[in-house]
Amino acid sequence: MGFTLEMARAIAGVSLNKGTRVIDPACGAGAFLLSGLDKGIGSPATIFGIDIDAKVRDEWELNGLAEDLGRNLYIQNGLYDPDDNRVSEKLPLRQFDLVVGNPPYGGFGVREVEKDKRLFNSLRTYELWRLGTRANDDQDSLFAVDVLERLRRLTPKEVERLERFPVEVLFLERFVRLAKAGGVIAIVIPDGILANVKFDYVRGWVAERCHVVAVVSLPRGTFRGTGTTAKTSILFLRKKGAKARGPKHVFMAQLDEGKDGGPPDKEEFDFVLKNFREKFKGYASGSPIIWTSTTTDDLWDNRWDADYWDPTFVEPVKLLKKRFGKIIPLKETDPFITYGAIITGRKPKLKDSGVFYIHIENFMPTGLDISLGNFISEKSDWNKDRARVKKGDVVIVRAGEGSLGKSEVYYLDFPATVGCFVDIFRQDVINPFFLALFLKSKYGQVQFRRLKSGVTGLTNVNFYEIKSIYVPLIPSKDIERIERAYKKILRKNDMIIRKKWSLAKKYYREGKNRLSADKMANEDAIIAKELGSLRSVFQDLLRKFELFLEGENKSFIP
Ligand SMILES: C[S@@+](CC[C@H](N)C(=O)[O-])C[C@H]1O[C@@H](n2cnc3c(N)ncnc32)[C@H](O)[C@@H]1O
Repeated sequence: MGFTLEMARAIAGVSLNKGTRVIDPACGAGAFLLSGLDKGIGSPATIFGIDIDAKVRDEWELNGLAEDLGRNLYIQNGLYDPDDNRVSEKLPLRQFDLVVGNPPYGGFGVREVEKDKRLFNSLRTYELWRLGTRANDDQDSLFAVDVLERLRRLTPKEVERLERFPVEVLFLERFVRLAKAGGVIAIVIPDGILANVKFDYVRGWVAERCHVVAVVSLPRGTFRGTGTTAKTSILFLRKKGAKARGPKHVFMAQLDEGKDGGPPDKEEFDFVLKNFREKFKGYASGSPIIWTSTTTDDLWDNRWDADYWDPTFVEPVKLLKKRFGKIIPLKETDPFITYGAIITGRKPKLKDSGVFYIHIENFMPTGLDISLGNFISEKSDWNKDRARVKKGDVVIVRAGEGSLGKSEVYYLDFPATVGCFVDIFRQDVINPFFLALFLKSKYGQVQFRRLKSGVTGLTNVNFYEIKSIYVPLIPSKDIERIERAYKKILRKNDMIIRKKWSLAKKYYREGKNRLSADKMANEDAIIAKELGSLRSVFQDLLRKFELFLEGENKSFIP
């Protein structure tokens, strides 16, 4: 608590003092407010707390808050203003210097909105829950009902949406609204809001109104005492205004769990605070748990959770940028991306030849593998036009804990189609042989790990995420060499795989079942030896490729 207020003080500069107007609109026992009083950030006349639960009154009595702030504590819903002259006149709402708190999360927003007239009236003026509506969802109401009418009542669809809307997003909007221009907002928020693509619009809305100053990731054990282990962070914002200039860099930090998996130790908080005070102006990067993301611009259209900006993930990309000067996210290649057909309740009928049906198990380091039963017929429902692979497409595994991110350039002569866990990535800006090798290298793989990091814990990636992967643009003479060397391996792989496949077919004809026929072919001494030595040739190529990416070798030397 003290940490959060000290961070807020560092952000606001010296101006946080006894005159500071502070509010926590879901204050519970009031730990943040007590800490404010303790630190001289606000005073009994300027600190306000709201909580919906009447039971917290007892805690206010016990911890002395009732005595200190008595008249400024309200039992009511924190999503609307207290009906009290003191707040609305002497201390106009939406004019707070500091809005701080750990509002509720996890549950749905507000049940039975329509029964609570004040809540209903208040939420009508909120914006975020409307923005999240899927395009066209509300077309009818948007055009059929005139604007005033629309403000007066909500359509049943809107009420339903509000009731299912995450309460933490309503509170985030509430916090932003309560702050004055230049005011500081410190809010504990589930990482999902910071990391999930589906909350992009929430982050966009916040970033239009506030400068993002810092994100401090809290370990799961932080609120263990209250029975929750959700992954959360403290988001520090400064509301935009005439004088409030935003920082160029965003401060990101991860706090480690304390003893026995509990809240972080005091030293941990102090360490982050000290670094923040020192680096808030200087923006050096460095220590393992603290760093700054590149620039505020990086956060546009991107994740805000500190895990994503962990140096382990950011540094390799920075290194490539430094080395090659030009590095682009895959979206700039304007790609066509698709995955295979998903037909619920049915499975494709698998055959031993026909159209190669590419799925997760087919990806090997040296190229694509083929087993019996990896084919479907030309006319199969799974052989959809859009899912058909062309030679030169890059295919990427989009799912699976151990397999996500496996990639290959398609260089076989069979007609082929991707299954539902494999994406086709087709574009003509980047050489596909280079791209596939890059994705297989540690510089590609670290970026898949980055996508999987943090609370999203993705075991699958969507198109948007694949398009966020950065690839350097390298000289064409190196591209040519890479293509040549890599093609050699793919051709050789193709030869061995075909041999293995014929052998498996032979065993199958002789009466073995598919599984054992494949196994026997795989264990064939010559085939196993050839595949083994091809694997070391590939490892060697990959190592040279990485040395080249790192700048250890100026050009790519096969
Ligand atoms: C995580 S706790 C906050 C703990 C607090 N920082 C403390 O020091 O105890 C969230 C609080 O939000 C309150 N709450 C939940 N929904 C609310 C609402 N709509 N308006 C106001 N308070 C609400 C809960 O009663 C709970 O006390």
